[in-house]
Amino acid sequence: MSALTPREIVAELDKFVIGQEQAKRMVAVAMRNRWRRQNLAPELRDEIAPKNIIMMGPTGVGKTEIARRLARLSGAPFLKVEATKFTEVGYVGRDVESMVRDLMEIGINLVREEENARVRAAAEAAAESRLMDLLLPHSFGQEERGSTREKLLQQFRLGFLDEREVEMEVAEQGGKGIDIFAIPGMEQMGGQVRDMFSKAFPPKRSRRKLKLRAAFAILVQEESARLVDQEALTEKARERVEQSGIIFIDEIDKIASSSQNRTSDISREGVQRDLLPIVEGSVVNTKHGMVRTDHILFI
Ligand SMILES: Nc1ncnc2c1ncn2[C@@H]1O[C@H](COP(=O)(O)OP(=O)(O)O)[C@@H](O)[C@H]1O
Ligand SMILES: [Mg+2]
Repeated sequence: MSALTPREIVAELDKFVIGQEQAKRMVAVAMRNRWRRQNLAPELRDEIAPKNIIMMGPTGVGKTEIARRLARLSGAPFLKVEATKFTEVGYVGRDVESMVRDLMEIGINLVREEENARVRAAAEAAAESRLMDLLLPHSFGQEERGSTREKLLQQFRLGFLDEREVEMEVAEQGGKGIDIFAIPGMEQMGGQVRDMFSKAFPPKRSRRKLKLRAAFAILVQEESARLVDQEALTEKARERVEQSGIIFIDEIDKIASSSQNRTSDISREGVQRDLLPIVEGSVVNTKHGMVRTDHILFI
């Protein structure tokens, strides 16, 4: 995606969206400009103000479709939300800032997948080694052990041992845990409290019998988590979200006020009021730290 020119982005969109040339060109240029900005020196980078996009048109002409296709293409953290889902802070429902927290969560998952892929070979090797430790009784002599281990490993790799079982310690799935009930408008606090608790009470581990394949998958996961620096991951994700994140706010006309219905206008105006600073650029507190919204692309 980073290397695509606007023309190439449009060509990609052309495969799925018929017509709507102007809309396709606008989003393509916006994507390209953000990419170019990221390649500038930091002093110059700050000089460039981002442009957000308002897409207008009747129902069913492809607005949402363009956004969806763009998301697939971009590889950037992308979130599509319904404007009608939000209520102003203090009312029951989701507060507007939660869109940034959700985008950060998406960014974290995206980067984690990349990082896991990067360390996969090393994680698998470490997992194989731990699996062999589990399989081989320690009473074996050194030499005997070495060659048996080699043979076992070969058999495992060929899938001959998949039905065998091992006993190992695993973190309990789900468990009882602690449910924190989010106070409306304060979901983010709920998240932070939950985080605090999960650090204070790490998941219980218990011994379980598992088929080799399943055991291997768990070990690979544990080894990946060990090999990936979680702090660096968060930092990378935050950078990605701030510099190339895209939030598509669908049905935004539904929170516009109309002159007929004054009563429901009050909460709509509240949502508008909460939305504006986020779109213009502010800092949102997420459980992964502060996220600046200045250069997030809002469509
Ligand atoms: N220009 C278009 N090219 C291809 N499919 C389209 C186009 N416009 C609408 N559609 C299809 O019609 C349906 C509704 O389109 P959607 O993008 O949700 O419309 P809206 O503009 O209301 O967001 C989707 O399934 C979408 O794939
Ligand atoms: Mg739509």
